[in-house]
Amino acid sequence: MTVPTHFPYGITILEITYIVASVLFVIGLKMLSHPLTARKGNILAAFGMGFAIIATILFHRKDGEPIGNIPLILAAIAIGTVIGWVIAKKVRMTAMPQLVSFFNGMGGAAAALISMMEFPHVSPELIARSGMANGHVLAILLGLMIGTVSWSGSMIAFGKLDGRIGDLRVKSMKYVNITILIVLLGFIVYIMTRDVSESRELMPFIYIMFGISVIYGVLFVMPIGGADMPVVISLLNSFTGVAAAMGGFLYNNQVMLTGGILVGSAGTILTILMCRAMNRSLLNVIVGVFGGGGSAAATEAGTIKEITLSDAAILLSYSKKVVIVPGYGLAVAQAQHICHELDKLLDEKGVEVRYAIHPVAGRMPGHMNVLLAEADVPYEQLVESDEINPDLPNTDVLIVIGANDVVNPAAEDDPSSPIFGMPIIKARDARNIIVMKRGMGKGYAAIENMLFYNEKTRMLFGDAKNTLQNLVSEIKNL
Ligand code: TAP
Repeated sequence: MTVPTHFPYGITILEITYIVASVLFVIGLKMLSHPLTARKGNILAAFGMGFAIIATILFHRKDGEPIGNIPLILAAIAIGTVIGWVIAKKVRMTAMPQLVSFFNGMGGAAAALISMMEFPHVSPELIARSGMANGHVLAILLGLMIGTVSWSGSMIAFGKLDGRIGDLRVKSMKYVNITILIVLLGFIVYIMTRDVSESRELMPFIYIMFGISVIYGVLFVMPIGGADMPVVISLLNSFTGVAAAMGGFLYNNQVMLTGGILVGSAGTILTILMCRAMNRSLLNVIVGVFGGGGSAAATEAGTIKEITLSDAAILLSYSKKVVIVPGYGLAVAQAQHICHELDKLLDEKGVEVRYAIHPVAGRMPGHMNVLLAEADVPYEQLVESDEINPDLPNTDVLIVIGANDVVNPAAEDDPSSPIFGMPIIKARDARNIIVMKRGMGKGYAAIENMLFYNEKTRMLFGDAKNTLQNLVSEIKNL
């Protein structure tokens, strides 16, 4: 049976499908910018992608011939779908960043493989047909370089986020990385100036380029540690988008191009925003150097003071203004629902409760927004750190729940700290500080936090969910 591929007037069904899919991507992306619409946006964009894949299989024609190897393609899709589904179902919310890194790496690897597969097919006839002259080879080489860097870098990021790989910081790393980048660009220029009819003979250069790109990806992510991983993850994300867009150029496939450009540009915008939030420069991210090399000394830490549940309940109930700083520990404890119960209880007592949201609190962009939205905390109660900071001196009690790095004053006080220069929630400005955590464990940056030793701070030790449950009962019994 022959499948019709054209609408009247020569418009192909595939073109229309790609336009519809692209529109769904754009609307989906727009909806991702708000927690209330994000879930629907994700489904819409995924639906667009599924639609584009099915249409490509059914309606794509090359020299008038339909796509071959359908059983193989369907088998690959089935295997990928099952693996993706199982992993996504099983993953803990707090392990999401590792998963994102891993999937992102797979996208980069796919883009690099496309380049390696396509380069030997480059010929003067193909170049003439593509109408892109040197652009065709450039798209292949950039796809190879960026896709490979994204793959190897994402795998290292995955290992670091999962706690399997530590930081490797060598002072001269910056110069090594810059040199590798220059060498890679040299390869691109060299290959592009060679005769394309020799593409098969040039394959050894392609393999060397692949190897150097793997090394660059590893070296540029290895030194990045402390609190700076989020910036790198979003940068790697944008790399994968750009590499996929190169594939779109190669195959003259509009939906691949649009998808790649959307991921690339959204990732770039996020990287720039993250850089601003962390007070880092983009150049430093690209060559893999961040912050200071040392860690804050724990020697002058001092003593800590604890608070009992009943004292905490009284202090909170008789306050006028309370600010909650949620962090990674709140997500680990899955304490968002009971936390919302606490804020409603205080609200009934006439206490104004707001949440201070730091851009990198938790382990993924928007982690706290998603977590609190899940517990139906009204969006208006969430206030960004730079907006809430000036009001903290008027805040009666600031409760830190499972946060650490995002309230660490070393970012302002200690130039040798790896988080120095990162904007923080200025918790120490509040009149009273209660810190809920299990013990004296460190945060992601693995450094001491002098806030816990501040004279205004009282520690409330325990798992965040249990502590909040007990605190809520205590307040109810007052
Ligand atoms: P962290 O600095 O990671 O601190 C979390 C704290 O939660 C720990 O000190 C831990 O102390 C406590 N905790 C763990 N489980 C707990 C539980 N069940 N109950 C109570 N407390 C618990 O968190 P943060 O302040 O949210 O900062 C996030 C960090 O992750 C930043 O350094 C950021 O750069 C980095 N990071 C962020 C992202 C994104 S995009 N958000 C991605 C990767 C990395 P105890 O062990 O003593 O309980």
